[in-house]
Amino acid sequence: MVSSIPTLFAALALPLVPLVQAQLFTVNCQPLSIQRADPIISPGVVSAHTHAVIGGTAFQQTMSTTTAVNAQDTTCDKKLDKSNYWQPLLYHHRSDGQFEAVTFQGSAVYYLNRACNYAPGLTTCPTNFASRSPPAGLRMVVGNPTLRTYNDSSFAQRAVQHVCLRANDSPNFNSLPPMACLRLRAETYFPSCWDGVNLDSADHSSHMAFPAYGDYNTGVCPQSHPVAIYSVFYEFYYDTSPYTDYQNLVWAMGDPTGYGLHGDFINGWNQNALDQAVNTCQGPDGAYAATCSVNPGDGAAVALNPVVPAPSENVGLNGPIPALPGNNPVTGSFVKRRSSKFRM
Ligand SMILES: *[C@@H]1O[C@H](CO)[C@@H](O)[C@H](O)[C@H]1NC(C)=O
Repeated sequence: MVSSIPTLFAALALPLVPLVQAQLFTVNCQPLSIQRADPIISPGVVSAHTHAVIGGTAFQQTMSTTTAVNAQDTTCDKKLDKSNYWQPLLYHHRSDGQFEAVTFQGSAVYYLNRACNYAPGLTTCPTNFASRSPPAGLRMVVGNPTLRTYNDSSFAQRAVQHVCLRANDSPNFNSLPPMACLRLRAETYFPSCWDGVNLDSADHSSHMAFPAYGDYNTGVCPQSHPVAIYSVFYEFYYDTSPYTDYQNLVWAMGDPTGYGLHGDFINGWNQNALDQAVNTCQGPDGAYAATCSVNPGDGAAVALNPVVPAPSENVGLNGPIPALPGNNPVTGSFVKRRSSKFRM
């Protein structure tokens, strides 16, 4: 995995296509753990499916945002960030019926100034708007693991995408790509509007909302969720080059469509540092700007193990396994329809 990093981070330098404002900074991360845990959805117990996890080494089945903040280290290059970020793991369903884990290569997490606060009558963001940092203690999810259909009118569903990285292009799909890819980039864009009060909610998403005007990744926040925060956007990379039978890729919850892709976030930042980053990492190359307070001196992302070891379950990292961990059946069918849109 380590040897794949130069190409990984070269790919991350692909130009963004900002829709409104370009202020951003990026956190580049190596893998931390692949295990059946989800401290937001399934606290204290094994989760329903396998996740690929990056970030702070305090990741475990039972944890709060304080646990995350107090982590000793992180697999990300910004050491002031002990957040945990995760998505389901990708598997390959072999012709003999077994499943093999697709190699997870690491991730980039973007923090983007894309949404603006609610104001009566406002339908487009003013120039030079500035959203605030994600608040201390924030936990949230985006996406729905049970989805097997797609509704293009739903911002929550548009926010889940798959980019197929090939030699000469990188088409983008809401479904798993209907073509062979050298690498797959699984993207989840979190809602950018906060209710201003709750740091979590029973369904882990209703304290957050997508913009009321605009799109899933830009626009004016609704009155119910008036506070715009820096958008959190994940890109998780997989080495899909061995799998020319692309129609047999399946997400860990038994999803061959891709529509059930989802992401989870626990804010483990040093909050002062996060506030500072929002104020200092400006411009389209904010991630590399000399003024960006979270940039200097941290060095590269390194793969580490979590302090609390993963349960000993075999999730397929040492060869094929007879069933998806959690015995999840494959439900729904591979989406053959070809529709490609470039969005970010
Ligand atoms: C699709 O999503 C939109 C927006 O959320 C919703 O109003 C509509 O009812 C949905 N359509 C279906 C068929 O679920």
